[in-house]
Amino acid sequence: MNQTSTDTPILRVNGVTAGYGDVQVLWGIDLTVPKGKIVSIVGPNGTGKTTLLLAISGMVRARTGSIVFNGEDITRARADHVVQKGLIHVPEGRRLFPGLSVRDNLLLGAYTRRDSAAEIARDLDFVYTIFPILAKRANQGATTMSGGEQQMCAIGRGIMARPKLLLIDELSLGLSPKALELLAESLVRINQEGVSILLVEQDVMTAFEIASHAYVIESGRVRLSGDTRTLSQDPMVRSAYMGFQTGVSA
Ligand SMILES: Nc1ncnc2c1ncn2[C@@H]1O[C@H](COP(=O)(O)OP(=O)(O)OP(=O)(O)O)[C@@H](O)[C@H]1O
Ligand SMILES: [Mg+2]
Repeated sequence: MNQTSTDTPILRVNGVTAGYGDVQVLWGIDLTVPKGKIVSIVGPNGTGKTTLLLAISGMVRARTGSIVFNGEDITRARADHVVQKGLIHVPEGRRLFPGLSVRDNLLLGAYTRRDSAAEIARDLDFVYTIFPILAKRANQGATTMSGGEQQMCAIGRGIMARPKLLLIDELSLGLSPKALELLAESLVRINQEGVSILLVEQDVMTAFEIASHAYVIESGRVRLSGDTRTLSQDPMVRSAYMGFQTGVSA
């Protein structure tokens, strides 16, 4: 296998700062997603996780630093250019179109593609293979489905864009443990098809279970990062994020 191609990260974020008006949220974020991997971001509410994903997908401007996607500097690129290149953002809160069916919501994910109808139909089949419930609900209004089904539809719409990298914000939002488990397994399957994934997730156990690497972000800075096996043994991570008591002997 060609070493250099596997060594090039799909995403590299270098010293990115960003914010809203006078409020600075990100204070110099460095982060890498190796090609073909799942990387998770965890951290408290309001710490800048969503802002970081928005900066990567070009919806919030990085003020300083750089963002390199698949070898291309996209720091100043327009959001639609970034989508065309295969960097797809599944936003927090799903954002499905009410009044449109599940199938039409999925097909909207493919709107920037110039592929043939046959190829798009094949990808729709792939989405239905991963999420069979969406095939059953194809003609139903997307926003009339359960929270978990809507999350599947939002991820399915992302897949319809033929992503090289999927950014997913809060997979578990409003989901039962069982629905979350199902979705986490689906992400692993999508990843096995060659899609790299950057996941923001409050459920640290799930985030660490499916990812090879993770970042702990606090107050707009990377507090800790590393492979998930090592991080899940870290005393700070265990007490602050995984609910383990530390310093207490039985
Ligand atoms: N559009 C906006 N205008 C002004 N401030 C904003 C805007 N969006 C977010 N913020 C602020 O930026 C900070 C970081 O918000 P962000 O949504 O990135 O956090 P988060 O880590 O994703 O939080 P959560 O875990 O609750 O989703 C917060 O203080 C928030 O109030
Ligand atoms: Mg958020």
